[in-house]
Amino acid sequence: MRFSLFLSILLFIACENKPQPTAAVEKKTEPMSEEKYNEKYRPQYHFSPTEKWMNDPNGMVYFDGEYHLFYQYHPESTVWGPMHWGHAVSKNMLHWEHLPVALYPDDLGTIFSGSAVADVENTSGFGEDDKTPLVAIFTHHDAEKEKTDAGDHQVQSLAYSTDKGRTWTKYAGNPVLPNAEKIRDYRDPKVIWDEARNQWLMVLAAKDRLRFYASKNLKDWTYLSDFGNEYGDRAGVWECPDIFPLRVEGSDAIKYVLILSLNPGAPNGGSGTQYFIGDWNGKEFIIDPAFEKDIQNGKGVWMDYGRDNYAGVTWSNIDPRDGRRLFLGWMSNWDYAREVPTETWRGAMTIPRTLTLHKTAAGYRLQNRPVREVEYLAKASHSLPKKTFANSYLLTGEVPFKVVQSRIQFTIDRSKTTAQEFGLRIFNKAGEEYRVGYDAKTKRFFSDRTESGDLGFSDKFATEKHNTEMLTAGQETSENADLIKFDILLDRASAETFINDGSIAVTDIFFPNEEYDRAEIFALGGEAKATEVKIFEMRSVWQ
Ligand code: FRU
Repeated sequence: MRFSLFLSILLFIACENKPQPTAAVEKKTEPMSEEKYNEKYRPQYHFSPTEKWMNDPNGMVYFDGEYHLFYQYHPESTVWGPMHWGHAVSKNMLHWEHLPVALYPDDLGTIFSGSAVADVENTSGFGEDDKTPLVAIFTHHDAEKEKTDAGDHQVQSLAYSTDKGRTWTKYAGNPVLPNAEKIRDYRDPKVIWDEARNQWLMVLAAKDRLRFYASKNLKDWTYLSDFGNEYGDRAGVWECPDIFPLRVEGSDAIKYVLILSLNPGAPNGGSGTQYFIGDWNGKEFIIDPAFEKDIQNGKGVWMDYGRDNYAGVTWSNIDPRDGRRLFLGWMSNWDYAREVPTETWRGAMTIPRTLTLHKTAAGYRLQNRPVREVEYLAKASHSLPKKTFANSYLLTGEVPFKVVQSRIQFTIDRSKTTAQEFGLRIFNKAGEEYRVGYDAKTKRFFSDRTESGDLGFSDKFATEKHNTEMLTAGQETSENADLIKFDILLDRASAETFINDGSIAVTDIFFPNEEYDRAEIFALGGEAKATEVKIFEMRSVWQ
């Protein structure tokens, strides 16, 4: 008995660092219709609904071995409309089982964004026969009422499930949080368990600020405080907040991270997600004094400097022995989401990412990088020679690989580089290309999809090449400040670039008229030295 306990602890520890490859690769995303996964622009290893419209991720909760992903869904159309919660589950955040729609509109309205918790102590009383209820906390949106301009058309409600999220019952006492003040944009509740105060904490977007509420039972909520109409970038409406404690890497200190999506108002146009670092005192979010200086005068600190990572939040109820803070966003932008040229479905999610918190020379900063499970999607890997070159290092000339189903990593040594610009270029015979790179003069990274293929569907899609914030002291690699590490995930219609372990992330979608089948590291205006050049060929999660 003792021995087997010891053995399982050992096994557990062993599994902790590396997920079991079998779990990661054996399962396939359902349904596996060949027709579906071969559709033009259909992501091969990013989540997308089998058909119809999808926007924000919702209700992300880990329970009983499954990651749940609900999402804003319109089952009747490929454009936004009366919202439902679509649903999928996964054991590894990559291979998904698509499940039936979880929440349908009802008398109180359609189902907008929100969160879900595992109510382990059955504080809500929704549990039966010792079964832990999953409780969804979401916004009811009454479109008819909206037309009357009364202002109270968004309220917060509950639904629960005692069968691992397979069937849901709406709470008879809905709404649990009416909108007495008639705030027009009053939505997207994210609920977490506040361990220290033994109660639930809700953060809610309320037009140009956030609101905090507390509850002992998920049904009765007490107002705590407002946060922030003086902070950050507040050009647009605040949406989809999240709050959670996170340990500062290399220390025992805990800080609170507050995530907030904004539309419009992102640094590169349209929708974007910013964050704040501070402390939670049980009543208010207190911004870290060092962080405060970075968010003055309408300035924000952003999760991602591409244009296509929005409404992202984190999974709740992750096993403390795993301990990761796992994030996923909607890979689109309200500027053009409704027009992107996919035919049978619209919308995909970013790759799931691990968030870590670092105390850098610039202050507290998040890093976000692909979850380690993504490594098991690599079916082959190639190490390419290091090279000092001008103009082009043609990767597809070294080894043939499917560019839009790959992960490309390389390091540029700036101390041996005279080029003004360097980075990755992927392109096709038709001369269409996507570039992501670094400009030595401005010290900013850029993403350029101005020649990427189909641009005609929206005049807001590719107006100019867009830039990131400057590479600051804190974002250099710890080993050597001259090195810039690129880690780029390419799928059929997206590129996610993680610079220096996710210190800067750049996520962008594109729609080439024919597939990009070539890839090069480019160096303009001089030479560049590339080292650690690696190509990973990725499996499709559909096959
Ligand atoms: C964010 C958002 C949310 C809202 C949902 C509606 O993209 O506007 O604020 O709940 O989408 O689909």
